[in-house]
Amino acid sequence: MSFEIRPLSDALGAEIVGLDVSRPLDDATFARVHRAHLDHLVLVFRGQRLTPQQHIDFSKRFGPLDAHPSQGGAHLAGFPDILVVSTKRENGKDVGVRNAGPTWHSDLAYRDRPALGSMLYALELPDSGGDTGFANMAMAYDALPRRLKDAAGEKRALFSSTRNTSLHALHPVFRTHPETGRKSIFVNPQLTAGIDGMDAPSSSSLLAEIYAHCRQPEFVYWHKWRPGDLTFWDNRCVLHIADHTRLDDPAYIRHMHRTTIAGDVPF
Ligand code: SIN
Repeated sequence: MSFEIRPLSDALGAEIVGLDVSRPLDDATFARVHRAHLDHLVLVFRGQRLTPQQHIDFSKRFGPLDAHPSQGGAHLAGFPDILVVSTKRENGKDVGVRNAGPTWHSDLAYRDRPALGSMLYALELPDSGGDTGFANMAMAYDALPRRLKDAAGEKRALFSSTRNTSLHALHPVFRTHPETGRKSIFVNPQLTAGIDGMDAPSSSSLLAEIYAHCRQPEFVYWHKWRPGDLTFWDNRCVLHIADHTRLDDPAYIRHMHRTTIAGDVPF
């Protein structure tokens, strides 16, 4: 199956044009998609028309799925592998997670095995706003000043869920990608509680310096969604954030389905 790979920014990201992922991919096509994902970190499959089951089947080509723990009615009825990310309300209740990813984070970092990646599929979009930012943490690691690399060194950080306080995990501040071997910054402002073995003020000030570095525009790509976009990020080396500045505007309708692919224990 032929398709085009078009880079989206100098930081990361590529659009995949001309590939219908609702149908099973042959092995050669899958291998090319997999390679593109490792090279570009975020892939945007344009113009998809996916049923929930097709979305799940394509996601499973990359590994087993991991149902997101923030359930509480946030999953699509009959499809526990699909998390609904939506500003819609029905009968006075949110139909999914309304304010998903309001600050920079990687998915399920508070689990022993954080996600390999997530696939977010745009079903309804607002006329403006609702972009998703992606930041390349391998590039950020390479450019991190030696002083900060040495200060965090081989240390680990504690990650906690913002929605379920009983979920915690310790992971390296800098992790190694299990497929490419590249190092990246793994701590993030939403889910990292502190650096293990450091007093709270020292940990906070070191993390603040690392985050200020990570947010620099040369590491970031802002994705402006189009209907039918299926976006797949490598959660092992990418942070993401949703722009929810219009969240309180009743005219702001943004409705998406997300699958989450299970990952490895970070090292
Ligand atoms: C998420 O953090 O999974 C959601 C990102 C988005 O809605 O853009």
